[in-house]
Amino acid sequence: MSKLVIEGGRRLSGVIHIHGAKNSALPILAAAYLAQGPCEIENCPLLSDVQAAGKILQHLGCTVEREEHTMRVDASEASGFTVPDGLMREMRSSIVFLGAIAARTGKAELSFPGGCELGPRPIDQHLSALRQLGLQICEEGGRLECRVKGRLTGCPISLSFPSVGATENILLAAVTARGTTTIINAAREPEIVDLCDFLCACGAHIRGAGEGTIVIDGVERLHGCRHRVIPDRIETATYMGAAAITGGSLLLKQVKSEHVQAIIPVFEEAGCQVAVWGDELLISAPGRLRRVHTVRTLPYPGFPTDAQALMMAPMCVADGTSVFIETIFESRYKHVCELMRMGAQIKVEGRVAVVEGVAELFGAPVECTDLRGGAALVLAALAANGTTEITQLHHLERGYEAMAQTFCGVGAAAYLQE
Ligand code: UD1
Repeated sequence: MSKLVIEGGRRLSGVIHIHGAKNSALPILAAAYLAQGPCEIENCPLLSDVQAAGKILQHLGCTVEREEHTMRVDASEASGFTVPDGLMREMRSSIVFLGAIAARTGKAELSFPGGCELGPRPIDQHLSALRQLGLQICEEGGRLECRVKGRLTGCPISLSFPSVGATENILLAAVTARGTTTIINAAREPEIVDLCDFLCACGAHIRGAGEGTIVIDGVERLHGCRHRVIPDRIETATYMGAAAITGGSLLLKQVKSEHVQAIIPVFEEAGCQVAVWGDELLISAPGRLRRVHTVRTLPYPGFPTDAQALMMAPMCVADGTSVFIETIFESRYKHVCELMRMGAQIKVEGRVAVVEGVAELFGAPVECTDLRGGAALVLAALAANGTTEITQLHHLERGYEAMAQTFCGVGAAAYLQE
């Protein structure tokens, strides 16, 4: 089993190029199944989740080619409507293929995604919305058997929570449905806007992307297009966290600073200096971070749940006590126990975590518990006194391209050991 070995205590300094957003690339790859022509998707990160999405498309009958960070998907001849259990399990967010498959073929058969490392991952909003559009869904033995009678038909759909995945599934199902679909209380994340930009470049009619109400006028068919995936705001937050926790200074390139507007002030509150110009962001950290008052995770444009663990790691060595309130996922503090193995002082009570900053963390053997929790351990290890060995790296491979090399390039001592 491979492990990431990090000798901590080095101040990071240098330049890092941010990759394309995983959470944009995945629904866009699903959307490529709707296009009756070749799509060229640039800036796709080289990640296991993206690879899994490519495998699903191939299984559905698409031609998929990859050249560095560009993926070419041609669904012209494809007509598959099943996703085997193994492929569904390879990528937790594979449920986003449901809307695209149903819209393209009028039927879909795939397995229920089940729970995940963030706790139960219900898809009730996805299913209820797709049913409103006319999809008949039978849930049996962990499988979803779906059929459309006639054609999917647009209607107003109100979400009880602005779920990212449900909004994506509705968009994918509605762009070629008959009539107009209005999503009320839609998710406003930048990845939703990116998906809508891709769909519109393929000929879809969508208004209101990035707002709480999205209106989709169904079109007969979509054509192929060329699209560039937006920069990953969570990867950006990760490297900001690395600069902060090591007292370092990093210049991040290919950043979309509008997308990290809720994150920047929190780093500033901790004493970091953040300067933004064009698509570059420079973060410089003080010798000792200050604590931040309260970090409450919220749907976009609030502080992202995906950055909660990434902010918690630096706060473990800040001067004072910080409070985190996780409002999005039920079980998103699994990294806490691992951080405590490294000497962090954290108390969790339900959705609240209280972090009392300590003078220093110590290297220890730790396990990635999930993607962002794993990244938080890497940040802690970069600052820790001594050597940290991190295992369960498959979590990190889902969301970070060449993470160890990237950190070595800015002065860290990190290497992979088989
Ligand atoms: C996406 C992101 C994930 C991020 C999350 C919130 C991808 C691949 N993943 O996940 O990284 O952390 O947005 O920003 O883009 N919920 C229900 N019923 C549903 C759907 C969701 O109860 O039908 C609940 C979830 O359990 C969770 C909350 O709503 O508590 C948010 O989920 P959602 O916005 O759907 O997140 P994902 O799309 O799964």
